[in-house]
Parts: sequence; structure tokens; C-alpha cells
Amino acid sequence: MMPLPATIDDTLLSLRHSLQLIARWGCRGFECSPETLEILEQWSRPAVHAKKQDTLAQIRSEMGECRRCGLSAQRTHIVFGEGAPRADLVFVGEGPGFEEDRSGRPFVGPAGQLLTRIIEAMHLTREQVYICNVVKCRPPGNRNPETDEIKACRPFLQRQLAVIRPKVICALGTFAAQVLLDSTQPISQLRGRFHDINGIKVMPTFHPSYLLRNPDRKRDVWEDMKKIMLLLRLPL
Ligand code: URA
Ligand code: URA
Repeated sequence: MMPLPATIDDTLLSLRHSLQLIARWGCRGFECSPETLEILEQWSRPAVHAKKQDTLAQIRSEMGECRRCGLSAQRTHIVFGEGAPRADLVFVGEGPGFEEDRSGRPFVGPAGQLLTRIIEAMHLTREQVYICNVVKCRPPGNRNPETDEIKACRPFLQRQLAVIRPKVICALGTFAAQVLLDSTQPISQLRGRFHDINGIKVMPTFHPSYLLRNPDRKRDVWEDMKKIMLLLRLPL
């Protein structure tokens, strides 16, 4: 398929969102079937950016029983990521914690439960977004991942993002924001506005585990989420 001009891409995207809203409101006289929405989705997002035929399953399979860095020695499970393979919104955290390492699933511990509530407050479900981390194995004692560990894991994250090709990436916390944006600025200066990586918008915000310790910052995070909701034309 030929890549569409960016303006048509935007038009198709907004048409899809409008039809979704019309369907939700129950207005009659419009063709808002799931098939139509899916067709518009395909047209508005030609897969020209990802490596040909790359899929999340392929990326996971190439990762195998990864031994590319030292984190593999103490991990229980690789936490690859989960959610919708064509999600509009991807959340990227730092790395698995204790419960994620045990279960093999991202953001299922206390911080994960808060993230789930944030997602639901956006009128979304975990199944409608995609959730993953910069590194896929738990750093012992939840220390920050080191440079060689990030370097070993980063190609997998980049391929995940290239395949999903979301409209927005929400970078959770200092670490994910700095890695994704290749920045050394603190999260307090990065958050609250959209950045751009390869045409994908990135909204950095505070990490949910930081929110557990600093609940007064939830207001800031909600402001950031509202910007994402506006961009994705989700009802506020
Ligand atoms: N913190 C993270 O950054 N990622 C997880 O998956 C869980 C906690
Ligand atoms: N420090 C972090 O690592 N993350 C935050 O979200 C805030 C402070």
C-alpha cells in the first residue's frame, strides 16, 4: 500500500474517532460497524515504518531465553509486555519489580494497580493499551538498570514500538523518559508536554511508584493524561 499523505492520515484517524463516538452515543444513520472502524484503522496507519513482517510474537521469539545481559542471572521471568498489538497508547516503565518478575506480567504490583486505575480513569482498559518496560528483566533490589543492560534490551523496545506504532507513548518516570528521549533532564522538566520520537508523540509523566510516595502529584499526572486523552480524542 502507498503511504498516505500526512493530512489524509489525520483525516482518517479523526473520522474513525468520530464514528467511534457516534457509535457510543447511539446516533442512528451512520455506518459505525467494527469492520468500518478496522478498515479506517488500517488505512490511517500503513505499516510502512516497521521492519517488514516484524510482529510482537517474532520479537519475543528472537528474545528467547535471553542472556544478553547480567540481569538474566537473577530473573524468574522475562516481562516482555502485554496489551493491544495496535494500541494507540503505550505505557513504558523502567523495569519489572518483584511481582512482575514472579508473574511475567508488567505493572501488576502496587504501582501497577495504580497505573491500572489511571488507565481506567482515562476510560480505557489495560487490554486496549500496551504496557511494557525499558528493560525486560528485574534489576536486583529494583536498582536502576545500568548502561550495558539498557543497551542490550533497547533494540527490543524499539522494535515493539515500531510494530505497534502508537499515536502516543507515555513514559513513566525519570528513567523511561530519559532513555526514550535520550535526555538527562529531570522528569519534572520533561513532563507535561509532548515530545517527539520518529513522529510518535511522547508524554513523560511521574512514575506510579513515585505517586504512591507523593500522592499530591496525582493532580499533575492527571493533567498529563488529559493532554493524551485530548490528542486521542477520548471523551474527558
Ligand atoms: N515499575 C516499573 O517500572 N515497571 C513495572 O513493570 C512495574 C513497576
Ligand atoms: N523520580 C522518578 O524516578 N520518577 C518520578 O516519576 C519522579 C521522581
